[in-house]
Amino acid sequence: MDLTERPRRLRRTAAIRSLVREHRVHPANLVLPVFIRQGAQAPVPIASMPGVVQHSRDSLMRAATQAAELGVGGIMLFGVPTDRDAVGHCAVAPDSILAQAIGWTREATGDALPIFADLCLDEFTSHGHCGVLDAQGNIDNDATLLVYQQMALTLADAGADFLGLSGMMDGQVGAVREILDMNGRTDVALLAYAAKYASAFYGPFRDAVESALDGDRNTYQQDPANAVESLREVRLDVAQGADMVMVKPALPYLDILARVADMVDVPVAAYVVSGEYSMIEAAAAAGFIDRQRAITEALIAVRRAGASIICTYWASEVAGWLTHP
Ligand code: PBG
Repeated sequence: MDLTERPRRLRRTAAIRSLVREHRVHPANLVLPVFIRQGAQAPVPIASMPGVVQHSRDSLMRAATQAAELGVGGIMLFGVPTDRDAVGHCAVAPDSILAQAIGWTREATGDALPIFADLCLDEFTSHGHCGVLDAQGNIDNDATLLVYQQMALTLADAGADFLGLSGMMDGQVGAVREILDMNGRTDVALLAYAAKYASAFYGPFRDAVESALDGDRNTYQQDPANAVESLREVRLDVAQGADMVMVKPALPYLDILARVADMVDVPVAAYVVSGEYSMIEAAAAAGFIDRQRAITEALIAVRRAGASIICTYWASEVAGWLTHP
């Protein structure tokens, strides 16, 4: 055959394939999400997320230290409180489990590991919604923003580097930026969960934070059928001062990720969420797929689609593989 182009020449050896590889996952671009359970004396396994736990103070500090040693790029904290009420009071208290966890993480890792704190009410409300409700039981968007502002000050005081705005309320980025700046906290950065879909893939997370949600989040999270709407959400969040934007979940939304990455000039993150984690873990445990190859392929796909930062429950493990192959 007289073929001028033979793409296979560049796949002949492992070294050649490495030379022409277009995308790489690096530990420094991975963020490890962790759960901290108020009052836990020891880590508590999460049944629907094999290998992930609700941390105690000590196990959180060990996990943070290990992540920092492995060169992981950041840690994202989610609190699991013992008390919940209709307005999420304990999210705002200076000694909230999330505020304490920020302090413990800082104590363990100093400035080595940027600390992201989830700014949302769903873990703290008795009804499990991401905001407060009005008299009719609907989410009160603007009343929720006032609570987010108070929570932002609590988390900033506790020492968070980034606040992760995951509640999908209109105007949340601007409201939080404004209160932080008014209080002299221009240093605290905002990660906007800009394109966050109402997804079945959050199922195991609701176990992990013991969410009380009865119903759905369809009036605030996005319809999985929509793409252009994400561009609007991203535009609004960047205009309101988002320092980074996120697409979530990741793998079913790689098209959105690619479009967002083309559109903005801030870093773009993607969150490989609990259900994406558990699907791969379950299939691997059943012997249906090769676990390490599946994880590696999933993360490189997210990178290839345009995320510079990936939030993943596998962050430390993958950093270990990359450091000691
Ligand atoms: C809301 C929040 C959720 C997740 C991160 N932040 C749950 C939801 O919106 O229902 C999901 C993360 C995951 O599934 O891994 N605070």
